[in-house]
Amino acid sequence: MKLVFERSIPGYETDWLGASDVPGSAIPENLRRQTDLHLPELSQNELSRHYTQLAKESFGVNDGFYPLGSCTMKYNPKVNDEVAGLEGFKEIHPLQPVETIQGALEVMTTAESWLSEINGMDAFTFQPAAGAHGELTALLMIKAYHELNGDHHRTKIIVPDSAHGTNPASSAMAGFETVNIPSDEFGCVDLETLKAAVGPDTAGLMLTNPNTVGIFDPNITEITKIVHDAGGLNYYDGANLNPIMGIVRPGDMGFDVVHLNIHKTFSTPHGGGGPGMGPVGCKAILKDFLPDYYPVETNGTWAFTTPKHTIGQVKGFYGHFSILTRALTYLLTLGGDGITASAKAAVLNANYLLHGLKEKYQVPYGDHCMHEFVISLSQLKKQTGVSALDMAKALLDYQMHPPTMYFPLIVPEALMLEPTETESKQTLDEAIQIFLDLYDQAMENGEVFHEYPLTTPVGRVDEVGAARNPQIRYLFD
Ligand SMILES: Cc1ncc(COP(=O)(O)O)c(C=O)c1O
Repeated sequence: MKLVFERSIPGYETDWLGASDVPGSAIPENLRRQTDLHLPELSQNELSRHYTQLAKESFGVNDGFYPLGSCTMKYNPKVNDEVAGLEGFKEIHPLQPVETIQGALEVMTTAESWLSEINGMDAFTFQPAAGAHGELTALLMIKAYHELNGDHHRTKIIVPDSAHGTNPASSAMAGFETVNIPSDEFGCVDLETLKAAVGPDTAGLMLTNPNTVGIFDPNITEITKIVHDAGGLNYYDGANLNPIMGIVRPGDMGFDVVHLNIHKTFSTPHGGGGPGMGPVGCKAILKDFLPDYYPVETNGTWAFTTPKHTIGQVKGFYGHFSILTRALTYLLTLGGDGITASAKAAVLNANYLLHGLKEKYQVPYGDHCMHEFVISLSQLKKQTGVSALDMAKALLDYQMHPPTMYFPLIVPEALMLEPTETESKQTLDEAIQIFLDLYDQAMENGEVFHEYPLTTPVGRVDEVGAARNPQIRYLFD
């Protein structure tokens, strides 16, 4: 397929944009571009064909089963996009006077009260732009809290080895030392290891529950108590909130602060590098440390306030507002019972899939899972040479998107599956059959798997070459 630059016809005039009505800026001469800007020159219909072709060459949640799950892409009801596109939401500008954006502030405080209720928290900020950004924000709040209390020696954050890679990275970015603790044989936190790790230098613990192998830690309240008793705070990585929302609350498990991947759980796709939102919720003890621009309502009037010990702004303006309108639409259309039902369906679907695959595949962590589970192809690879990557590519020939590969790192040849709440039993049955057939095929002839996929517009790509020698920009003649 041609790149948009290769479709370009030099000199092709387009006049879609009117003349600029913004006064020219005073950029100094030496900072101005010296050469022409290379922009593709295409008619509207050529451009439209280009994007349609691109869409046809990729595989999305609208094409077929997508067990990568909420981690990247779950089906999001279209009404949420429609509401986000309403003129009153879409056309507002962050520099508008606050009295003209009262409705937008009401959206924020309403979403705050729903999310606080679901999480057992007292307040939320919507500024962070993604999960990892929420982690950093929450850790900076924890840091500011300890510093205000004179606890300057609390410099360590405990992170289990099953954690998402962003957890230790955020801890380092916030200036903490990360203490990595190994998981037990169930992928959960080992209490004795945790007790040995905490001390007067503990600032906090970062934990996702259910964890990245899809297990709900049965010792959760004991874990958070151990950290509290040592004077630390508990941080909940809410990227896996999907199976517990409306059922149990991080606040009741003993967490003091959470981030949500609202762009996963509450109805905006995570993939594609588009704008995300990682709201941070906290208990009252941390409320004064929230980022600046905290909206509050007094007698029907909304205003932005500055929390007393704010860590400052973590992003320009007020966060990716259109994501919040989608999330609030999702919450309001589902309602309390619908949210609980969604969580239960996510868990039911994952367990159904797990039990179907268990017939032939290795499931390293137990008989039951929450919203996702991990299979390991290490045995199959030893017997047939078929790796997790080969299997993932083979699925594409059966109109199924590959699951997450090689994560979590504690499982060799891992495939992590998350069907989500919206898939039907028929789809899950088909998926199970495809997996079982592929297993038999691997046993018969593993060699062919190294060539898969055979029917997609782009076949097996040289992934090592792409990683070692990336060509990520177009070189003009
Ligand atoms: C468990 C967990 N924590 C944190 C993150 C980071 O979120 P984000 O990718 O939005 O930065 C993810 C992302 O997928 C995750 O799965």
